Amino acid sequence: MKISASFLSIKDNLKENIDLLTKCDIDYLHLDIMDGVFVKNKTWNILEIKNLINHNKPLDVHLMVSDVYKYIDEFKELNPDFITFHYEVDLDIMDIINYIKKFNIKVGLSIKPNTKVEEIIPYLPFVDLVLVMSVEPGLGGQQFITNSVDKIKKLKELKGNYLIEVDGGINVQTIDLIKDVDIAVIGSYITSGDYKEKIKMIKEKIYG
Ligand code: DX5
Ligand code: ZN
Repeated sequence: MKISASFLSIKDNLKENIDLLTKCDIDYLHLDIMDGVFVKNKTWNILEIKNLINHNKPLDVHLMVSDVYKYIDEFKELNPDFITFHYEVDLDIMDIINYIKKFNIKVGLSIKPNTKVEEIIPYLPFVDLVLVMSVEPGLGGQQFITNSVDKIKKLKELKGNYLIEVDGGINVQTIDLIKDVDIAVIGSYITSGDYKEKIKMIKEKIYG
């Protein structure tokens, strides 16, 4: 299992702390991009992100935005490994998938806690990753919603050619529920203490 670290809950010295985080043993840096429309909160724009991050870790962009194309156009410039958008946006899903692919960036499709896996079945052959939200998007530090476990099971049973990523409420306890996913997004559990120590504890849980 790979770890994608979210810095959404870091409150102080953001740039320095993101630097620290990227020097840790993580596989991706997860960018939580919110527009204040698709979700209530608003995070960083592209200029702020460019100023905040250095490029020594692969990027995993999570767009919680309504105007998806505008953000793809901006964030593709960072050469991320993945751009993930939400199935719940009011746009043509297949068209967005094809748009991201044009830039040779892997496509992720995300579902909120109340969206069923069945709804996205038509798109599964065309995506590289499915992001199961295990909290309502918009905020770090929430509790893991356990219905995500059934969704992961369903996505596994469908045996598609996509990675499964889970995002929200993951810590040393809840990681036990999602041991067979490909990527775990972890935010506040890591950033609420000594990053290296927290990552070590998570890895001990993953690898025993
Ligand atoms: C929520 C974000 C998540 C979140 C993860 O909208 O997509 O990435 O910040 O943080 P924790 O691990 O604190 O739930
Ligand atoms: Zn996220």
